[in-house]
Amino acid sequence: MFGLKQTLKALFCGALLLASVSAQEEAPATSIPAGLPINVAVEFPNAIEGLVPGLIGGEANKLKISFENLDQSEYKVNLIVGSIFDLQDFTNIRRNLTAYRYGTTIKRENTLILPYTVKVEHPSIEAGLILMADITNKEKEHFTAIVYNGTVSFSEPVQSLLDVQLIFLYVLLAGIFVGLGIFIKDSFKSETKTTKKKPALTAEQRQVAVDNTTVLNDDWIPENHKKSPKAAKVTKRR
Ligand SMILES: *[C@@H]1O[C@H](CO)[C@@H](O)[C@H](O)[C@H]1NC(C)=O
Ligand SMILES: *[C@@H]1O[C@H](CO)[C@@H](O)[C@H](O)[C@H]1NC(C)=O
Repeated sequence: MFGLKQTLKALFCGALLLASVSAQEEAPATSIPAGLPINVAVEFPNAIEGLVPGLIGGEANKLKISFENLDQSEYKVNLIVGSIFDLQDFTNIRRNLTAYRYGTTIKRENTLILPYTVKVEHPSIEAGLILMADITNKEKEHFTAIVYNGTVSFSEPVQSLLDVQLIFLYVLLAGIFVGLGIFIKDSFKSETKTTKKKPALTAEQRQVAVDNTTVLNDDWIPENHKKSPKAAKVTKRR
């Protein structure tokens, strides 16, 4: 059931992304300090070339950040931090994202790909995202590389619409299972039908049943059903 939900969600996300076609205003900037021979790039989930990367508010958006080491010596990615800021005012930080610690080595002339999860309630439709990585070289000098500085567009989780559909699906499936269960029970225990249909008792019959309970008289229960706990329970309730 969970797999289905995810698949449906993915399809919806794709459709929403296509529907929200809006041109990218400004190319996101990466900025590497002088003396750091590393290329960085971010891959957004479900990104579409030429569009503002979309993130889903309140959900774990799994980004992949790649570090390409062009040097003959090793570097280390210590941590990646991020924040969401106001597009109108770059100094106005709206949310600080989780800082992830890695301590992973980028081997010489190699590319390292690290996961980074952005999970934040969407502050607005479009917002600025800054991702920064703290990198050290062999001499333990620290460099801050701007991995991403650009616009991202947040969308509402597609939960609401999907849930309605899923609820229908669940109700339908539940109905089928209940129906199946009743059918199987009926075909196996057709002889106990009289006890099963108790709710259809007339007021008189019910009174008789109630009277019987007080003396625990089980004459009226079919012989094969006497020791069934279910029947006992029903008897008590009446
Ligand atoms: C984000 O972190 C910075 C530096 O740690 C801090 O000054 C700022 O108040 C934080 N902003 C929010 C919205 O949490
Ligand atoms: C991100 O980009 C904006 C606009 O291009 C710029 O004003 C801002 O200083 C940049 N932030 C960082 C941390 O480089």
